[in-house]
Amino acid sequence: MSRFVLLSPNGEFDQKLRAAVANGLRGSVQTIASDILPAGPQELFALLNQEQPEVLIIGPDVPYEEALRFAKVFDVQLPGLSLVLVSDVDPAHLLNAMRAGIRDILSPQADAAEIRVLLERACQSFATRHRAPEAQGETNGKGLVIGVFSPKGGVGKTTLATNIAIGLGRIAPMSVVIVDLDLQFGDVASGLYLNPEHTVTDAVTPAAAQDSLVLKAFLTVHPAGIYALCAPLNPVDADHITPEQVSRLVEQLSHEFQYVVLDTAPGMPEIGLAAMEHCTDVVWVSAMDIPSLRGLRSGLEVLRQLDIMPESRHVVLNMADAKAGLNVRDVESTIGAPVDVSVPRSRAVALSTNRGIPVLQESKRDPAVKSLRQLVERFNPAWRAQAQRKLHRRVVI
Ligand SMILES: Nc1ncnc2c1ncn2[C@@H]1O[C@H](COP(=O)(O)OP(=O)(O)OP(=O)(O)O)[C@@H](O)[C@H]1O
Ligand SMILES: [Mg+2]
Repeated sequence: MSRFVLLSPNGEFDQKLRAAVANGLRGSVQTIASDILPAGPQELFALLNQEQPEVLIIGPDVPYEEALRFAKVFDVQLPGLSLVLVSDVDPAHLLNAMRAGIRDILSPQADAAEIRVLLERACQSFATRHRAPEAQGETNGKGLVIGVFSPKGGVGKTTLATNIAIGLGRIAPMSVVIVDLDLQFGDVASGLYLNPEHTVTDAVTPAAAQDSLVLKAFLTVHPAGIYALCAPLNPVDADHITPEQVSRLVEQLSHEFQYVVLDTAPGMPEIGLAAMEHCTDVVWVSAMDIPSLRGLRSGLEVLRQLDIMPESRHVVLNMADAKAGLNVRDVESTIGAPVDVSVPRSRAVALSTNRGIPVLQESKRDPAVKSLRQLVERFNPAWRAQAQRKLHRRVVI
């Protein structure tokens, strides 16, 4: 059964839509390549030879008035369907379109990323209206929860977390969410060049805590096919968020996503520890200087004392530099643990932070990119199955 149905004789747009779906959305597209719209749902279903799709896209080349007439019929007879109009509609007519039941409007010039984001939103709206009562609870399957931590600040947690999320988005499009748990000074939004409408503040309200579909409506879609939940815009709001709320949030997201990536504040604040209890994987980051390495050693010891032991640990040495006067054996003996991945200091990475485009989004040729890919690979089920017994490998810097 096709999730998306396109009504349009425009072959070029048809191809663009198919490419956008194939590159990141579940389900397929069926096209009715005629400029005569079906009279109503029964006629449409007969043409499609299937039951109700989730999203109906009224393509370019359908006259605006005709599209509105059609939308009104469908809105009355099939109110759950998400209708998307592809048109350069004059803003003055937008209200008419909304009144006719059009859910969203897509420009005919939209690129694949924009099409994907909009279709994902339309599917979410379909799901919200069609959920069965049993679907309101949680499902049994749980995703990986990957937390990025370090006792010291400025060692590259946000850089790693955003790259892990973008990298995993390639393996599992629309199945990854990154959450900024550096609630006061988080910069995931800036690292991903996002301007979020909603933040963690909304995501921990009772309405969202009780219903994961409400929670999902507060996530921001990133054009690379991942979701983000950014830190509160005002640091004062962060004070009102409790470790219990964060714990519930992470638990909920782990039931909804294949991968939940957590960026955290430096040190071991209560919020971070609450989140760590849900982590299947902890990425420990250290820069290549003695204070940062010693900090990591103490951090690992504290966790041992607190008996918090996530299933898998990945030690990342970031900003590795052969000229720092330390070699990997010095590093490992200072931390008291083997290094799993070493990410070299790189200009491309420093630049990417300022541009808000993680290096893995652009697939640049850079030594740091190679290491970041290795790190992402550790969360790929195929790699894990092979390497489960030797998760810790010595690296060379
Ligand atoms: N491998 C690298 N090479 C060069 N620069 C890097 C590298 N990793 C991170 N940086 C730079 O270091 C700075 C700090 O990185 P980042 O913000 O990711 O650290 P952080 O641990 O999240 O900091 P905070 O503790 O303040 O949240 C950024 O400007 C980033 O571009
Ligand atoms: Mg940070």
